[in-house]
Amino acid sequence: MIRRILHVVGARPNFMKAAPVHAALKARGGFAQSLVHTGQHYDPAMSDTLFRQLGLPAPDHNLGVGSGTHAVQTAEIMVRLEPILAADPPDLVLLYGDVNSTMAGALVAAKLGVPAAHVEAGLRSFDRTMPEEVNRLVTDRLCELLLTPSEDGDENLLREGVEPAKIRRVGNVMIDTLARLLPAAVAPPLPGLAAPYVLVTLHRPANVDDPAALAAILKTLMRAAQKTHVVFPVHPRTRARIDAAPSMAPSGSRLILTAPLGYLEFLGLQKGAAAVVTDSGGIQEETTYLGIPCLTVRPNTERPVTVESGTNTLVGSDMTRLEAELDAALSGRGKKGRPIPLWDGRAAERIADELAAWSGWRRPPRPA
Ligand code: UD1
Repeated sequence: MIRRILHVVGARPNFMKAAPVHAALKARGGFAQSLVHTGQHYDPAMSDTLFRQLGLPAPDHNLGVGSGTHAVQTAEIMVRLEPILAADPPDLVLLYGDVNSTMAGALVAAKLGVPAAHVEAGLRSFDRTMPEEVNRLVTDRLCELLLTPSEDGDENLLREGVEPAKIRRVGNVMIDTLARLLPAAVAPPLPGLAAPYVLVTLHRPANVDDPAALAAILKTLMRAAQKTHVVFPVHPRTRARIDAAPSMAPSGSRLILTAPLGYLEFLGLQKGAAAVVTDSGGIQEETTYLGIPCLTVRPNTERPVTVESGTNTLVGSDMTRLEAELDAALSGRGKKGRPIPLWDGRAAERIADELAAWSGWRRPPRPA
């Protein structure tokens, strides 16, 4: 029986996934839960506001690792997490998504012989130039229990030789949070904003760290803002790149740039958008659930179900295509999509059921 569960979170998309699981385990009873925040995201807008809006309890430990190269950030998380796990090993570590905090947590748990479970297991972009793909591969290799959001996740894991007994398809916990908080989501008052509008997010290194790629996207957004309103909450990584090259700073009376928004404010904007332009993983899922056309500025996705069954279109770095797809969405010809199985707001309850029933692991011998 598993009784003591430790959640490891660190970056914005982790918080939306951990919140429903924490709540479902609490509602089920019989679990003692604790929470480690690695501090990968630390701005109030990227962290504290979300904790509050999502109803996550204050972390028991905040590792305060902050920013750094991938090696520095991952190593810092490992160094600071290890003594916490070693001093008081839980029965299970719960890890979320594909950020550096996820992989670092998996490595520390595996080295200490503490079993770990991965929420959002099995997703693959098959693109190892993405740091998240490396994090997914390592995390899934090391976890004892792999909780997948969709059928493709199971298939990827089986193809990699994972034992079927480790895999449980539970659905999408991000959608649990979305379904719960949708009624409370309200767009912030943004002067000058009117419907119809396009909502934009961009933060992937491939799009924002390369000045030519970023300039091309910003130019396309400025052209779109000649036809309709465009709202763009700017991630800190993207903000730093724009500030470093003031000549590319986007402008236009109908282009509205904001600081990163809270979950409820962003969701409020999302539900009213005519289309969304993004390179985020989670937003590809949220737009599919909401039935809003999503144009993803990436050549691939680890969430193919959003393209096959949902409202997502991959436009890659083809800005002519982006413009054409935006025109189509704005004139009502965007993808409509259909509901995805198990994206129903109850994934966390299924995880709680799985953890309550789970006895299929043996604690490996602890290193001396
Ligand atoms: C990370 C995740 C990415 C996820 C994204 C969501 C990895 C490898 N990447 O990317 O998968 O989609 O979070 O936002 O884990 N910064 C701040 N304040 C903060 C956080 C970051 O100013 O609170 C700035 C720093 O300059 C930092 C940069 O943003 O260097 C990037 O942050 P980092 O956590 O390294 O990666 P993200 O781009 O946010």
